[in-house]
Amino acid sequence: MLRKIYPLASCSARAEPRLCYVTFGQPPAIMNFYREKRMAHKPAPSAVAIHELIAGRWSPRAYSSEPVSRENLHAVLEAARWAPSSYNAQPWRFLVFDRSVDEVAFKQAFATLVPFNQAWNAPAPVLIAVTTLTRTSKGEVNRCAQYDAGAAAMALVLQAHALGLAAHQMSGFDPNAFRKAFDLPNDVEPIAFISLGHFGDVEKLDPVLREREKSVRQRLPLAEIAYGGGWKKAF
Ligand SMILES: Cc1cc2nc3c(=O)[nH]c(=O)nc-3n(C[C@H](O)[C@H](O)[C@H](O)COP(=O)(O)O)c2cc1C
Repeated sequence: MLRKIYPLASCSARAEPRLCYVTFGQPPAIMNFYREKRMAHKPAPSAVAIHELIAGRWSPRAYSSEPVSRENLHAVLEAARWAPSSYNAQPWRFLVFDRSVDEVAFKQAFATLVPFNQAWNAPAPVLIAVTTLTRTSKGEVNRCAQYDAGAAAMALVLQAHALGLAAHQMSGFDPNAFRKAFDLPNDVEPIAFISLGHFGDVEKLDPVLREREKSVRQRLPLAEIAYGGGWKKAF
């Protein structure tokens, strides 16, 4: 799909000049700008240039209820499948809950989210639970299992971003309730959820989340996260 950016008039007047409302496909009638504000773009104000896929991915909370096509679902899972892993063990396991396919299972999974996450995920069409096998095929503890599952999750959300979809990772859920609801084996650990869907109307979020949605993305400075040749030595 063609992706075009249509900044709103209000965009350039804001304190954060990089933050714009955008929409996809054909330019909508001007009235639609005011009826529906989909914020599909929130690029990282990076210190040096980085790839758009990384700078452009972000964690939105305004979803529309439009379903995700099976084709797109396959693509994001395929991207996760090709993540690297220690010994190529591929310990990640994804449980996909597509509201349009199995609403009962979707509701069961949704019920394990903390109330804060339930609130803004109410319209989300897909939830994906990220779990990992905690042991190797030899029965030993795989100390890279979570690392590998995180890498696969990142591949999934980057592919979602590349497809113009909204994806948001969440640790705010009850892992024990999830384990029980879906009868997970003991050597499988539920780590996080990813909600997946299409960008929705930001104005439908509650005022606090709406502001958060529009705020500039923040990170620690490079000097705080990268050291050169020793602990806390300047890079
Ligand atoms: C493992 C993980 C767990 C997260 N849990 C939640 C969550 O429960 N609820 C939520 O609203 N956001 C959650 N987030 C989203 C983060 O708040 C978000 O990634 C962070 O603020 C950086 O924003 P960005 O992804 O837009 O750059 C989570 C992200 C990750 C990677």
